[in-house]
Amino acid sequence: MCGIFGYVGSRNDAAIMAVEGLKSLEYRGYDSWGIAWKEEGNLSFRKEIGKISGVDGTTLSENCTLSIGHTRWATHGGVTQENAHPQFNEDRTIAVVHNGIFENYQEIRNELKAKGHVFVSETDTEIAPHLIEEYMKEGNDFARSVQLACRRFTGRYAVVAVHTTSDTLVAARTGSPLIVGVERGKGYFVASDTPAFLRHTKTVQYLDDGEMLVTDGKTILFWDILTGEEHPKREIEITTNIAEADKGKYAHYMLKEIMDQKESVARAVNQDEAEILAVADAIRNAKGTFLAGCGTAGKACMAAEYFFSVIAKHHVNFTPASEFKLYHHFLQPQSLLIVVSQSGETADVLEAMNVAKAAGSKVLSIVNVAGSSIDRASDYTLHINAGPERAVASTKALTGQLAVLLLTAYALAGKLQEGKKLLLEVSSMINDMLNPRYVDRLEALAGKIKEKEDLYIIGKSWNYPMALESAIKIQEVSYIHAEGFAGGELKHGPIALIEERTPCIVLAGNDEVLPDILSNAVQLKARGAQVIGVSPESNEIFDEWIRVPDAGPAQAIVNIIPIQVLSYFLAVQRGKDPDMPRNLAKSVTVK
Ligand code: M6R
Repeated sequence: MCGIFGYVGSRNDAAIMAVEGLKSLEYRGYDSWGIAWKEEGNLSFRKEIGKISGVDGTTLSENCTLSIGHTRWATHGGVTQENAHPQFNEDRTIAVVHNGIFENYQEIRNELKAKGHVFVSETDTEIAPHLIEEYMKEGNDFARSVQLACRRFTGRYAVVAVHTTSDTLVAARTGSPLIVGVERGKGYFVASDTPAFLRHTKTVQYLDDGEMLVTDGKTILFWDILTGEEHPKREIEITTNIAEADKGKYAHYMLKEIMDQKESVARAVNQDEAEILAVADAIRNAKGTFLAGCGTAGKACMAAEYFFSVIAKHHVNFTPASEFKLYHHFLQPQSLLIVVSQSGETADVLEAMNVAKAAGSKVLSIVNVAGSSIDRASDYTLHINAGPERAVASTKALTGQLAVLLLTAYALAGKLQEGKKLLLEVSSMINDMLNPRYVDRLEALAGKIKEKEDLYIIGKSWNYPMALESAIKIQEVSYIHAEGFAGGELKHGPIALIEERTPCIVLAGNDEVLPDILSNAVQLKARGAQVIGVSPESNEIFDEWIRVPDAGPAQAIVNIIPIQVLSYFLAVQRGKDPDMPRNLAKSVTVK
């Protein structure tokens, strides 16, 4: 949450680059934005409420070689210009952008107030420039003052700071992402994510937790915040290309990413077989295998409980990552935690990993973003290779996660080739499904139900987590009240919610639980529900039938795709922006 950016080097359009860089970070927060740049020894700035996407930065200074920027997802303080970043000290000689939370900000703020500092925002961030100023007053140089300030902060954060008397950027991280882009001979970028500088360079260096850096655009130094020990870094070439990170011919990233699934599932399946088999061995030998993730990724974990049970007859335990620490009693050094995350930066997942590591357990991660914090902190990683996912609503990452988890279950059952064959068939089924007629049909269905206030989704077996996921998708982009249930649970309470023409989506497959879920659908129909069946076969109970291919144990993957498309059109037809839903951000780096 929140995107941060910094540049120093020989280019003289640093302010313009900050605006452009922030546009690619907007998925991390979009309630307000701000930049500061150094010009003739002063820090100029611009801060605005709202999204940066429509802002024309080209009129900004073309005479500056150092800039910082921020796009905000509010935590401390409302959405106001004062609370937007950069935050400054009183004489505006120091500017700081920040992603994360300084948990001890009240204590530091009170201390600084007692020394006469005056604060103008409600943010936790504002303590940073004031505290840095205090250390500078004691005779420390700028970089050392940032280091001393960082030693005081508790919580998870990434910061970039600049000072009027120094031609350097100083940045530090503990818990929130920060990546360096190296444009050889021209300068250095720092940003929460690589798309912010992808058009200039694909050479990166990763800052790790507890580290800081200082750069003047010509050289860069990394060191440990606590010990001051120097930490030289490798330069790494990343493979992401700008086109992949762009929405191309589509009106929204969400639709583009749904369509990307024509190829992305096959990329997820294309794993190094030796690695998958090693992971299967690790699961087989573990004393207790746990799965943890959040939101959509959590639903992939939940589906995996069924995959491992049905295909490999192996028991694994899913818990939402934010609840995982309560399970620490069951962890031992021989236990395995499997975490699933698109971004690889989710704070709750990182915390779950810390809990597992504290018990000496091993961690396997299934991530999309290579080089992310979760990727780098894991003992083993499988990448889903979905390509950049920018829409807040996760779509292609989910199907990639499901594919990798299903493949792992097959590997554990000693049937890797069977699993691979199935998933490659599923990939071509998805390619066939996402044709213009199919999409139009879902657009028309959205038109029929877009005015409804409530919508329910039921499923059984692996379609149960997909019912929960369907509800997330519909809620987050269309703001319709949607809820998912296990079909068998209806009669234990939720059925009381059903009224005449309440739309109810029934997710089904050609499997042993089909009779059960159809009988749940009959129960809904008897209460007047409008039953929308998503299944390979039609049924007289369905008022509407959305045909999906028969994908056997991979049914969850094909069943969720029409719901993604439907959610997209519900959002658009209700006049909402599916890429940037209210109150949300793509990468949730706070607990
Ligand atoms: O990056 P992650 O996969 O760890 O993110 C987890 C959730 O925040 C994410 O799936 C969220 O639920 C999506 N907005 C759902 O579409």
